[in-house]
Amino acid sequence: MNMIEIIEKKKLGNALTAEEIDFFVAGAATGSVPDYQLAALLMAIRLNGMNREETKLLTLAMTHSGDVVNLDAIPGIPVDKHSTGGVGDTTTLVLAPLVAACGVPVAKMSGRGLGHTGGTLDKLESIDGFSVSLTEEVFLKQVQSIGLAVIGQTANLAPADKTLYALRDVTSTVDSLPLIASSIVSKKLASGAKGIVLDVKTGAGALMHTTEDSIALAQSMVRIGCDAGRNMVALVTDMGEPLGSHVGNALEVKEAIDVLAGRTGGPLLTVALELGARMLVLGGAAKDVPEGKAKMEAALHSGAGLAKLKEMIVAQGGNPACCDDVSALPQAAVILPCPALESGYIASMDTVGLGNTAQAMGAGRRTKEDVIDPAVGFVMQVRIGDKVAAGEPLATVHAKNDASAREAIAAIQRCIHMSKEAVPPCKLIHAFVSSESVERL
Ligand code: URA
Ligand code: CA
Repeated sequence: MNMIEIIEKKKLGNALTAEEIDFFVAGAATGSVPDYQLAALLMAIRLNGMNREETKLLTLAMTHSGDVVNLDAIPGIPVDKHSTGGVGDTTTLVLAPLVAACGVPVAKMSGRGLGHTGGTLDKLESIDGFSVSLTEEVFLKQVQSIGLAVIGQTANLAPADKTLYALRDVTSTVDSLPLIASSIVSKKLASGAKGIVLDVKTGAGALMHTTEDSIALAQSMVRIGCDAGRNMVALVTDMGEPLGSHVGNALEVKEAIDVLAGRTGGPLLTVALELGARMLVLGGAAKDVPEGKAKMEAALHSGAGLAKLKEMIVAQGGNPACCDDVSALPQAAVILPCPALESGYIASMDTVGLGNTAQAMGAGRRTKEDVIDPAVGFVMQVRIGDKVAAGEPLATVHAKNDASAREAIAAIQRCIHMSKEAVPPCKLIHAFVSSESVERL
């Protein structure tokens, strides 16, 4: 097989064969094809696309480029959920304990923050002592005994994706439907769950900015997952503004605990219940979405969800004190309000800018070696459509020092755009996508 001929073929807009795709993916996983040829093919795919068959072949080749976790030892139907990435998107920490409390095993491999988006592993590590690196054996035992574990991907999970993702990040080839779909679905197939609910974000803070592009991505991923024998569905949900009000690692853990303790709700809870209800359906614990939602709500109100989170924290070596007293979480040195500079309605937000602001404060990494400051970030006090007067708080910043707080305040003020005219609030759930249909909501 000749890599130059494969690049030439895709450059001219032709479809690649299974053998050609396998050769490329093996080259990415083993290093036998040099980065410059991988990058050239990635750009040809970005510009000329892939058909449905090619996208599926690419995904399956990437899935089998490393270990495929076998969850057969877990009783019941293990389910997983995956978000394409957002800001203030703490749904995993809310829904995973609730779903597990409803009797459906959650065996979840999560990621770290990427670019402007936060990562579940980084959030969990703000809990004193919590470990996200369990061996596969300990991971399976924990899911068998308490029905819930959240860990990092094992080292040899979809290694082709590790190479390709790193190249895409630095060659402007991230925003390609077949490349995103194959990257996400290969990792989900390799991590073993039988039922998978995808949360495809849409809007200013998402990889796909329009509802139609996000639905197309969701359809592509769901088709591949179902063709591969898994039960996969997707919700397209809004990322035109941060989902939860808290942005930052310990702050997002605090918000998840506040939700599970029944002290707060809002859009984060709404989306978590929608996703979780569908996980219960796929896991066989609910006959339909309304029943799933009712079970999730019952687990919330009884405190069973919070108790399950506590069990997971203890099982993974963490100090569960934060579940009873959120002030046990890391606290920032400087807490200051971010005032509105003018009066009006909140019209739109630069959600990527908000995510980048949290990252610059120390909540995310700019290089692989950066160490995260778990305490920093901000708490939004407004949502799109709210009316505010000049001087009223847009957010509260939690910073490591005064200089960082001042920079964050100015950045947040730039990211929140005001209008003199009234603005309607954002729609939260845009569509439900299954292998049979697209339901626009
Ligand atoms: N998340 C991934 O894992 N891969 C992508 O390509 C985009 C988001
Ligand atoms: Ca394995």
